[in-house]
Amino acid sequence: MDYKNLLVEFKDGIATVKINRPKALNALNSETLDELKHVGNALNDNKDVRVVIVTGEGEKAFIAGADILEMKDMNALEGMTFSQRGHEAFSTFENMDKPVIAAVNGFALGGGFEVALACDIIYASDKAKVGFPEITLGIFPGFGGTQRTAKLIGLAKTKELIFSGKTITAQEAYEMGLINKVVPHEELMKEVTVLAEKIKANGPISMKLAKECINKSLFLDIESGLLLEAKDFGLCFGTKDQKEGMTAFVERRKPTFKGE
Ligand code: CAA
Repeated sequence: MDYKNLLVEFKDGIATVKINRPKALNALNSETLDELKHVGNALNDNKDVRVVIVTGEGEKAFIAGADILEMKDMNALEGMTFSQRGHEAFSTFENMDKPVIAAVNGFALGGGFEVALACDIIYASDKAKVGFPEITLGIFPGFGGTQRTAKLIGLAKTKELIFSGKTITAQEAYEMGLINKVVPHEELMKEVTVLAEKIKANGPISMKLAKECINKSLFLDIESGLLLEAKDFGLCFGTKDQKEGMTAFVERRKPTFKGE
């Protein structure tokens, strides 16, 4: 499918999704949300794709939030539907069978930061700024920000960010535990690609199962979480990848994982 608001590139098992509305600093309108949901599902089904990278087109922004022009005249029901549209779109990335890396190349504000938080790993440029300015617009984060941020950094730090609407540097976000790594701006895509290549070399089935266990850990009590882990761990032993990984170790060679 051709997308109006996204650029999608494929290279050696790595798919890169770029939000492509640079004139509006990649703000998310309904059409872009629907395209994100579509591409998320398509990449999940594409067995040739092992890792997904999400980034923004242009020098200035990853995504400057939900589209304020579109939201301005919404009524209550339209606001709720818009929020749910965002939830559906971002959940396709969070629940994708494969790892998703956000490459935050500039402003990641409001709904933009919420996209990054739905990804598995966040690398950011040292020029990036992040935050939740929604409160200054008379709303609050509605694309998962209240839920995913609180689970990541706890209630108090989340409330400080959301109640103040302040924008913080990538370094500050790193120190709060919101992002994985800050890299020099020019090095961002190189560093993200190095990580993607390292991840890509590993077994896709064990990766999918590990992601499921880690994501579910936020919602399960310890007993249920450990049971899920034991079952998913056991499933690995039904794969050719597990036999290949351990045989390669014994034979002192690098494994070749086929996702079987
Ligand atoms: N929605 C729609 N358009 C936006 C936008 C947004 N979120 N952010 C930027 N733009 C547009 C601007 O209107 C401007 O368009 P024009 O050139 O046609 O006037 C263009 O992008 C460039 O923006 P600026 O001129 O403002 O650029 P700047 O460098 O002076 O400022 C900025 C950059 C600080 C990021 C500023 O654009 C800004 O504050 N943007 C809004 C950030 C924001 O409030 N995000 C939260 C949105 S609400 C939300 O996300 C809700 C939710 O959780 C679901």
